[in-house]
Amino acid sequence: MTIKVNTETREFHLFNNQVSYIFRVLEKSIQLEHLYFGQKIQHRESFKHLIEREIRPSCNMFEGDHTSSLEHIKQEYPSFGTTDYRQPAHMITSSIGSHITNYQYESYQIIPGKPALVNLPATYSEDNTEAETLEVTLIDEVLQSKLILSYTIFSERNVICRNARFVNEGKDSFYINNAMSTSVDFPDDQFEMLHLYGAWAREAHVEVQPLSKGIQSIYSARGASSHAHNPFLALKRLDTSEHTGEVYGFSLVYSGNFLGQVEVDTYSVTRVTMGINPFQFRWKLKPNQTFQTPECVMVYSNEGLNGMSQTYHDLYRTRLARGYWRDKERPILINNWEATYFHFNEEKILSIAKTARDLGIELFVLDDGWFGKRNDDTSSLGDWFEDRDKLPNGIQGLSEKIDALGMKFGLWFEPEMVCKDTKLFKEHPEWIIATPNRRPSHGRNQFILDFSREEVVDHIFSLMDTILEKSKISYIKWDMNRYMTETYSQSLDYDQQGEVAHRYILGVYKLYERLIEKYPEILFESCAGGGARFDPGLLYYAPQAWASDDTDAVERLKIQYGTSMVYPLSSIGSHISAVPNHQVSRITSMETRANVAYFGTFGYELDITKLSEEDKTKVQAQTSFFKEKRQLVRNGHFYRLLNPFESNEVSWMVVSQDKKEAMVGYYKVLAKPNDKYYRIKLKGLDPSKLYAIEGKDTTHYGDELMNIGIVLAEDYTDRAGEYWSREKSGDFSSKLFLLKEANA
Ligand code: DGJ
Repeated sequence: MTIKVNTETREFHLFNNQVSYIFRVLEKSIQLEHLYFGQKIQHRESFKHLIEREIRPSCNMFEGDHTSSLEHIKQEYPSFGTTDYRQPAHMITSSIGSHITNYQYESYQIIPGKPALVNLPATYSEDNTEAETLEVTLIDEVLQSKLILSYTIFSERNVICRNARFVNEGKDSFYINNAMSTSVDFPDDQFEMLHLYGAWAREAHVEVQPLSKGIQSIYSARGASSHAHNPFLALKRLDTSEHTGEVYGFSLVYSGNFLGQVEVDTYSVTRVTMGINPFQFRWKLKPNQTFQTPECVMVYSNEGLNGMSQTYHDLYRTRLARGYWRDKERPILINNWEATYFHFNEEKILSIAKTARDLGIELFVLDDGWFGKRNDDTSSLGDWFEDRDKLPNGIQGLSEKIDALGMKFGLWFEPEMVCKDTKLFKEHPEWIIATPNRRPSHGRNQFILDFSREEVVDHIFSLMDTILEKSKISYIKWDMNRYMTETYSQSLDYDQQGEVAHRYILGVYKLYERLIEKYPEILFESCAGGGARFDPGLLYYAPQAWASDDTDAVERLKIQYGTSMVYPLSSIGSHISAVPNHQVSRITSMETRANVAYFGTFGYELDITKLSEEDKTKVQAQTSFFKEKRQLVRNGHFYRLLNPFESNEVSWMVVSQDKKEAMVGYYKVLAKPNDKYYRIKLKGLDPSKLYAIEGKDTTHYGDELMNIGIVLAEDYTDRAGEYWSREKSGDFSSKLFLLKEANA
């Protein structure tokens, strides 16, 4: 890994064995010119030959120089108004009302490792040999402001991380209307744009669309990264497939309003920008203050979408997630939400926990409804005091009883919210996000607390702390169930209202940080009505996230497949729930529900006491099976094999890093009579290793399994001796294939 600077030509080349990223300082120091991002190329003393200039009819920056139009120069962090007419990476309003900026190159420094971002989540390096960071400082003399563009390259990863920070060194405040985290100008438009869209219970659906001239974008203006779009997009070449070809990923480490935008100009140059959504954003930067953008993680892969995903998986699992739980096996949990909803008492909870414990489940999670008078979703959020009618011994008493069962105990909170009937709301009506003299809209009968205010964060911390201090709690499910409306904070001036949504998210991060600091061994699972904040920002604090409120196994094939584009299996909350399924009423077998949920953190969400003895025996077998396989699932390489958005047959697999073991999930949604022959071609195995497939008495070389595949026409048995035939197995059928190096 190296960052090389050609000082004479003022060129910067970040590269390792996999990627190169090259840019230079333009003549007369104006702007930075982007030269290349992609497959690693040789370093050389000058990259001048990569400069592309043609005289075109347009406005130019300098008299007599007809090639100084920024519209025709690929840039690193473009501005608007000085000959570039495309969407900029930043926009500022100065104290005289001007929008013109001219950040000129001043200096650079190379920093070993990767500096942390102040108050924001980010990927990190564990020691200075893992990564190197280039910081380029630009200065606008008129604005008296510095702009520092930061680029990190990791030694062993096909990743470039970017962020920007603005410093006000003048005497006047100015307003930042737009501050993107990254901007890359690609020389052509031969791409398709892939992104993840969705809605409640339908998260992370994969959408692929050709680029067209003009702007295409994904965004959130909801105050959370949202169900609607994940803060991620990829540009793939037209012939790029799951396992071959070039793709560029852009993933924003942020949980609030974001924009991911692709602009193809009339010369087919493609500009990708990603960062905080400029819509409704305006930050007043006062003298001596700094504004830091979130980080954008850019991946280049020449091994298709799966290559890109594996890079994100490994980076986010090991260098975004952090702390006590990062490398630990996660407990198999049972959550009482779909078992009881709001209607439970201590006795019921203990009976679920006890049965679960007997069947090998390790953690009991008490979901919504344990506090205030919350018997439905109309009340009590903010009154984080136990409901003694339901829990006469409080959370402390319950947690001790669960601990005595030999289980861990986890608790649900929705810290950012308040209901009208609470002590909290009555004492502090001004603490909600609402615009004066305007009706505050409801979402699930609740309001959002103004986390842009420090005293609100402090107060919620102390309420949660009171519960946590006295109880035995080893897990928190942090939920968030509505989007922001009438966005306004009574603690900020009229000209700072554009800061509220960002300050709010900073407040969320601050509360997480404080809780983690005091309770480092608590495992956090983030949730936002399912996956509305399944984003890298929250993975920094909560290493796992509830992927969706849709627990139906068939629906989950799409949701988990899409989520895996960016996020590792170790982060994907996946549970077995009851049938008929509560969201879609579908009936699937225990086996299929398990075979889907194994490819995630794995747990249960049903009234386990009501299961038949036969199903309880299955649960027992499932928990011992997952304990055997969970290292493989969390640390292995994940390969998507058959795509649920394109086919009735779905498949994916995980292979251990030493390639000695693999687990393949195969799912057939609807049965067809007299169907064609099926094979699943595997990936990531050692071609010369001989593998045994459990339930089959032949062995297969890795190259056979990868080039010929598993032949599904054959019949298989599972470890319980159950017989499975693809042809005869009916709708919603599935099969796990367990591979082990033969004679190992
Ligand atoms: C939404 C979550 O996604 C569910 O899992 C559950 O915790 C409910 N909220 C509780 O209100």
